[in-house]
Amino acid sequence: MRELTNWLSGRADPDSFPYLPVTAEFQRSGKHFVGKELLALLDEIRARSRAPAIDEGSASARLLRDFLDVALDKWDGRYDYRSYLALSLLGLPCHDDGDIGSGRDLATARRDRDRLFVRLVADALAFESAAAAGTTDLLPEQRPTPALGAKRHRLGIRAVSPALSRLGLAATVDHPAVAAAALHAHVVADRSATEERALRLSMLPVYVAHDEYLFIRVLQAYECTFAALVDELRDTIAALADGRGRAAAERLGAARDRLGTAAPLFSLLASMQPESFRTFRAYTEGASAIQSRSYKVMESLCRTPEGPRLDSAAYRSVPEVRDRVLAGRPSVDTAFRAATRDGRLDGPDRALVERRMGEFAEAVLQWRRTHHRLATRLLGERPGTGYTEGTPYLAEVRAIPVFTAVAPDPDLLPPEPTGGCPE
Ligand code: HEM
Repeated sequence: MRELTNWLSGRADPDSFPYLPVTAEFQRSGKHFVGKELLALLDEIRARSRAPAIDEGSASARLLRDFLDVALDKWDGRYDYRSYLALSLLGLPCHDDGDIGSGRDLATARRDRDRLFVRLVADALAFESAAAAGTTDLLPEQRPTPALGAKRHRLGIRAVSPALSRLGLAATVDHPAVAAAALHAHVVADRSATEERALRLSMLPVYVAHDEYLFIRVLQAYECTFAALVDELRDTIAALADGRGRAAAERLGAARDRLGTAAPLFSLLASMQPESFRTFRAYTEGASAIQSRSYKVMESLCRTPEGPRLDSAAYRSVPEVRDRVLAGRPSVDTAFRAATRDGRLDGPDRALVERRMGEFAEAVLQWRRTHHRLATRLLGERPGTGYTEGTPYLAEVRAIPVFTAVAPDPDLLPPEPTGGCPE
């Protein structure tokens, strides 16, 4: 690649690395099919960038290292869910960072998550619009019909509306395609150059089928949601430890709303063309959301998983999360029991926390049921890319209690679903 060789023959400054041409080359063939020559060159750049003379601590050196790690995952034999979704480039958690908070105040953390969530979904919809208008040649195989594109706009707008209203904005109520265009225009005006670059670099599909764009953005948007739930649950535990019942209830309520209102993402993903999914899935083997750190941190912050689950693929796939649990990670369940036992939480505050725990538990159970139905529809009897037997695994884990101290409110439980995905 000319841009790369020019860069190498110059000062090879991380600040001027030709990210966009390299990304475009990956997107032209799909990550699974990138030429060996380019990969070898990137590998060489990575080795040089680790030379002692380079200041590895600078932000641009870190970005280059993260990008190369994401781009070279298949080449290295390290390809997994985190590298597939380029979580490090989006600033989303890729590791279990223990039980330290985000370091930001709650309002800023919530706002940042909402803004990222909106950027991701808006970008997916902008890609649908560009493909429908014939203004992009990105991922040209198996384009959806105009009707399917329109359905995606409608579902995508529904998915971002709650985040938009938390940000004090509203999606226009026009035609969904017009609303998607307005949303995209807003996001473009609102995002920084760094945010824009993160968005571009975090789209490295394994193949060239149109629907993989949607698949990646929906998974990233859910990762953003799980990361937000982790923030809320950590805050809940801290509030319970201090006997601040109302604050704990508020955090749990925010977590429930966030997970519940993200549900249209599943409907959006259910619009994926099954044959398209089967096509690109042939190259995603080894990357499965069973490796999602944020999901398992979220689960284990609710309550300590039991021995058999900790010893199953569920936690063996996220070893550092498993280690933290074994080392005694605090949970909402234990914090709630301790606060009630020690008299720090009683009366109406205790009842309120209990209710919010029940509602959050129901939101998680609902998420698992919908996920299982979606997987059944798109996967059938095939095994998972995380090497489980697939949907039988999901059927088995979907009813695991979220808390032991509190059961979900039976009034909130919908009838057992019979199939299909919510529209
Ligand atoms: C095409 C849609 C999807 C299919 C077919 C699917 C399929 C599966 C399968 C088969 C598993 C079991 C592990 C394995 O062997 O891979 C799994 C686990 C999981 N999936 Fe999905 N999934 C889909 C969409 C999603 C989405 C959008 C998310 C959101 C991030 C997600 C999150 C998870 C999580 C967190 C697990 C781990 C659950 C656990 O270990 O308890 N999946 N999925």
